[in-house]
Amino acid sequence: MPTKYATSLIVLHWLTLLLLILAYGTIQLRDFAQPGSWHGYAIAITHVTAGATVLLTMMLRIVLRIRKHTPKIIPTPPRWQTALSHLTHACMYGLFIAIPGAALLSRYFYGGEWSLYGLPMPHAEVENTKMWKGFIRWHTILAPLGYWLIALHAAAALVHHYIFRDNTLLRMMPSRRQS
Ligand code: HEM
Ligand code: HEM
Repeated sequence: MPTKYATSLIVLHWLTLLLLILAYGTIQLRDFAQPGSWHGYAIAITHVTAGATVLLTMMLRIVLRIRKHTPKIIPTPPRWQTALSHLTHACMYGLFIAIPGAALLSRYFYGGEWSLYGLPMPHAEVENTKMWKGFIRWHTILAPLGYWLIALHAAAALVHHYIFRDNTLLRMMPSRRQS
């Protein structure tokens, strides 16, 4: 029985973290750039590209989670901890699909030509103000929740590793060492 997550899931897990650092980091930097400057443009492009890629990685991860084996935690944690971790993971999938999903839908209803990864993207024929404003509002409401969820999740991983001393974290580490 494998004692780690599949390599594809491990790679995508840490790639998602990097992409989220870019998506959230660009938001922290946006106030330093002059409106209309190339810095502002680079920050916006990076935010949108990293954010949209998070959506792709999360969807791919769901497919892989269904298809690949989930390694057991040793020693087995109490049932309430397992239930809580499943709930947190489900919230992370839901949130990090809803955040970029809402932003992309907002951009769709904004109308006008736009591109992603250099490719032309679909858009509404005419601007639908109610819809684009509604979706971007949801984007800005949901996005800050991600900070708290990631912090809770990372703290739980460290507690498992350093306090409970089980193999939770090692199962998600890219090293070749088997726990
Ligand atoms: C997981 C991916 C993403 C995360 C974590 C994220 C996070 C954020 C955060 C924290 C804000 C600032 C909210 C505030 O002002 O309080 C924001 C704003 C914004 N994001 Fe994202 N974002 C993501 C993906 C995207 C995508 C894919 C797009 C474009 C299609 C996008 C477009 C925007 C825009 C236009 C704003 C400015 C909204 C405003 O100030 O009214 N974001 N995002
Ligand atoms: C420093 C940051 C992070 C640490 C230390 C960390 C650690 C871990 C660990 C140890 C696991 C295995 C837990 C288990 O199987 O019960 C895990 C799983 C998971 N993590 Fe993270 N993580 C971090 C960031 C993130 C971020 C940013 C996301 C955002 C999507 C995320 C989403 C998930 C999900 C959904 C799982 C369940 C396994 C899967 O479906 O791939 N993690 N993480």
